[in-house]
Amino acid sequence: MEVVARALFPTVIWSTRFDDYQDLNHRLLESVQRLREHDADGVHNTNVNGWQSRNTLQTHNEFAEINGRIVNVCREIGASAGFAREAELRYQAWANVNPPGAFNNPHIHPNCHLSGVYYIAATPDSGSIYFRDPRAMSLMAPPPLAQATEITATESAMKPEPGRLYVFPAWLEHGVQPNRSGQDRVGISFNVQVVALPGSGR
Ligand SMILES: [Fe+2]
Repeated sequence: MEVVARALFPTVIWSTRFDDYQDLNHRLLESVQRLREHDADGVHNTNVNGWQSRNTLQTHNEFAEINGRIVNVCREIGASAGFAREAELRYQAWANVNPPGAFNNPHIHPNCHLSGVYYIAATPDSGSIYFRDPRAMSLMAPPPLAQATEITATESAMKPEPGRLYVFPAWLEHGVQPNRSGQDRVGISFNVQVVALPGSGR
C-alpha cells in the first residue's frame, strides 16, 4: 500500500542567490551608507535598534540594478504562481541596517502581494528571518511531536547570507531574530503590489 502526500495551499518562500553578488554588494553597501549619512534618523517601523531608510530606493539610480533583478525574480514568481501576465508589478524598497543586538518584531506587509529581502552584508549569526505558521486553526490541537517537520512546524527560520534573496507572500507574518554577530547586517527589503492594468479585465 502506498500513501501519497499532496500539499494543498502551500505557503511558499522563494529564494535565489546571485552568483556575481560581490561587486554588486560592494557598491550597494556604499550606496546604503550614503543614504544613511543624509537621513541618520531614518524611519522607525518594526526595527528595534536598527536603521531603516524611507521606502524610496526605487527612485534612486544607484539601486537600479538590484531593483531590476528583484523585479525580474518577482515576475518569474508571478508567472509560476499564475498571476495575470499583463498585470503591473509596483515595487517599493528600503534599506535596513541592523547592528549587533538589533532585531525586527513580527509583522506583515498590508496592501501588498509579495515582500522580500536581499542581503548585502550578513553572516549566519546576524539574524535569521523567521516565518510563523499562517494556519491559525491548526493550533487548535497540536499533536505531540517527535520532531517538527515542514508539515508540523509552527515557526521556521532562514539564515541570511550575502547575495541571497528571499521572496514571500506579503500576508505571511515574519520577523528577524537578533543580530548575534559582531558586525552590521545590511539588506534591502521590498514590497510588490500586483495591479491589474485598466482594460485587462482582471
Ligand atoms: Fe517585513
